[in-house]
Amino acid sequence: MSVIEREPSTIPAGQSAVRLDGIDYVELYVGNAYQAAHFYRTMFGFKPVARAGMETGMRDRLSIVMVQGDIRLVITSGLNPDSPISRHVALHGDGVKDVAFRVDDVAAAFQTAVERGARAVAEPQVHEDERGRVVRATIGAPGDTVHSLVERHGYAATLFPGFEAITNAPATHAVGFTEVDHVAVSMESGHLDEWIQFYKEVLGFHQSHHEMVWTKNSSMNSKVVEDPSGKIKFPIQEPSKAGTNSQVQEYLNFNHGSGAQHVAFLCDDICFTVRTIRENGVRFLEVPGTYYEVLEERVGAIQPAVMAEYQELGILVDSDEDGRLMQIFSEPVEARPTMFVEVIERRGARGFGSGNIKALFEAVERQQERRGTI
Ligand code: FE2
Repeated sequence: MSVIEREPSTIPAGQSAVRLDGIDYVELYVGNAYQAAHFYRTMFGFKPVARAGMETGMRDRLSIVMVQGDIRLVITSGLNPDSPISRHVALHGDGVKDVAFRVDDVAAAFQTAVERGARAVAEPQVHEDERGRVVRATIGAPGDTVHSLVERHGYAATLFPGFEAITNAPATHAVGFTEVDHVAVSMESGHLDEWIQFYKEVLGFHQSHHEMVWTKNSSMNSKVVEDPSGKIKFPIQEPSKAGTNSQVQEYLNFNHGSGAQHVAFLCDDICFTVRTIRENGVRFLEVPGTYYEVLEERVGAIQPAVMAEYQELGILVDSDEDGRLMQIFSEPVEARPTMFVEVIERRGARGFGSGNIKALFEAVERQQERRGTI
């Protein structure tokens, strides 16, 4: 359940004492970290750089740190059936557990967040070794996910003390991901507004978008919150009619509650990136051919050669008052129809492809028909 317990905030919304300096890492809890790391390396070009496990004194888990551009993924499995990690995976399947933020002062940020109503998950803890120190605390986030707050003192290479560098990683070919653009959250019906309030009041985010989306089988209510720097963005969506078979509801059914529905990775050249990861075996949602027939009416002229490449690769285009964006959505990357990956290139646009959501929903609904969940 994703109920926030908190005292009313006495600090004006938008006045953030919790200053966040971007996403430090995204941690996935998975059934088999060793194999999942192979997947994220060969399919998406993430390089394994550090690991922690029984050999490094971490008795309850295997964690592998993978990097590409400014993105750091941590892929973690529990080592016994009773571990909270294993129980999380048993309930939710593989997926995002932690979207961690970098901060200057963990103790102050944690105290402020908790005073404003965040659920305290872990008090600030100092992790130290001969290479330096890292301080980390953790607060609750939607569903069973969390946000860790991480204070580093130049300690970046191997995530945390207790991790050792991987020096014999096989060749890894980056695909052009530069940073996490956004993490989209699917929310159980009726909880959207309380979590929008959480991000605004507790973490000083502001709401940048709001829209309703309908298709034949789906309707959802979607709001986006961003931190003041614009570096951290969470589109959050809830099914607007509980009990329908929308893709958001399908996610909620299989994830057993709210959670991260997709992680969007930013790139500079989406045609290169998508061509590369398609060759690596990543499967994307099929875009109806009719999508491209009406595309220029919606977003303006596109050079014929570029249009042909977009159509060949299934890349979607959207525009807003600030410019254009290109994006594409993978099929779910887990056994359950839950988390998927988005690839996005921005040429000015600050939106999230709302003009494409309807096309995307219709593509997902064709998949749902094959799965028999619609
Ligand atoms: Fe997205």
